[in-house]
Amino acid sequence: MGCFSCSGNSEKKKHQQQQQQQQQQKQKQQQQQKADDPIQSTLDKLKANPSLDVKELSKNGGSGHIAAKTFPFRELAEATKNFRADCLLGEGGFGRVYKGRLESIDQVVAIKQLDRNGMQGNREFLVEVLMLSLLHHPNLVNLIGYCADGDQRLLVYEYMPLGSLEDHLHDLPPDKKRLDWNTRMKIAAGAAKGLEYLHDKANPPVIYRDLKCSNILLGEGYYPKLSDFGLAKLGPVGDNTHVSTRVMGTYGYCAPEYAMTGQLTLKSDVYSFGVVLLEIITGRKAIDNAKSAGEHNLVAWARPLFRDRRQFSQMADPTLQGQYPVRGLYQALAVAAMCVQEQPSMRPLIADVVTALTYLASQTHDRGSQPVQSSRMAPLTPSRSRRDSDRTLSGSERREHAREFN
Ligand SMILES: Nc1ncnc2c1ncn2[C@@H]1O[C@H](COP(=O)(O)OP(=O)(O)OP(=O)(O)O)[C@@H](O)[C@H]1O
Ligand SMILES: [Mg+2]
Repeated sequence: MGCFSCSGNSEKKKHQQQQQQQQQQKQKQQQQQKADDPIQSTLDKLKANPSLDVKELSKNGGSGHIAAKTFPFRELAEATKNFRADCLLGEGGFGRVYKGRLESIDQVVAIKQLDRNGMQGNREFLVEVLMLSLLHHPNLVNLIGYCADGDQRLLVYEYMPLGSLEDHLHDLPPDKKRLDWNTRMKIAAGAAKGLEYLHDKANPPVIYRDLKCSNILLGEGYYPKLSDFGLAKLGPVGDNTHVSTRVMGTYGYCAPEYAMTGQLTLKSDVYSFGVVLLEIITGRKAIDNAKSAGEHNLVAWARPLFRDRRQFSQMADPTLQGQYPVRGLYQALAVAAMCVQEQPSMRPLIADVVTALTYLASQTHDRGSQPVQSSRMAPLTPSRSRRDSDRTLSGSERREHAREFN
């Protein structure tokens, strides 16, 4: 009996030891996975020490994937003729963007000189460098390098020769070519693909937060690329309890639930995408105070029209002069209507938007000829299960993002 109980005890002990070992192994594996995730480990480091600079971050492992080149300030000043006004491409909330030619790499580039605003500026700069170094997709703008000499903070991007989508949709000079229907659908499909990469391929998923026409840049052949998502993702630092509205996103593009509760999900981006798609189809601005009352806000103007198909042709950009396939217009408007629904759970996944828009972009419409469309309908109904399309960020994903915001 004694012997039995003795062997029973040792069995129990052995079992406990095995369980402990398994648990330790699991913890080790989890730690390893965390260390292997460069975004995660770098953001952890940045949170622990917000004054770290790019060199330190890339030196200390974890973020060893930073491929961007460093440039001395002198070289960037030379490339832009000392930041001369005639090299200025535009100006946004974070600083001025100049066109320049870098002799050392024999390339024309766009150089963004960040306004110097202390630690917050440094953090924004670091996250932009990190995000763009780690996330790569043909529909995301390419970061070539950066300069962090002294208190200078500059970012060097590939030059996008056709500027931003905004430059081709709104306030055009009379002699500027209008975008045709096919080009509009190609731009919409490409921008959706960039967003799909951030939502579905990047790990952890990245919420873009500032999708708008000025952040969709155009390359040769109107090839679209998303820009500025690193800067746009940042939230409050230090004692601040809120972020500025500019950082939160831009008025007119912001999903209603995000504006009201601050709750951020992938579906907030889908809403902003819907607003951009509406701008592409209608040629109207997200917010236009020059329009008559009731037409200031694009979504508020469009909502009642969505209910009646007969009104759809009224929504097409008049500068298209009727040159669009009628069924294509209906389908594109149906996608936009789904994206801007009030209820985030009713909005489609970006993957479903990509499928629908890729189909619409593949349907060529010859200018001047009668609109001809295949009788096949685009796959407009989200194909995923409701549960999947309702997906918001999981607890761990939310923590990833909270880490960046704190
Ligand atoms: N890589 C680039 N190639 C060519 N032009 C660019 C490039 N990046 C920016 N620009 C031009 O510079 C302008 C300013 O860009 P920037 O991102 O600083 O501001 P924004 O997008 O207008 O506003 P925000 O600060 O809210 O993003 C853009 O509208 C675009 O015309
Ligand atoms: Mg921008």
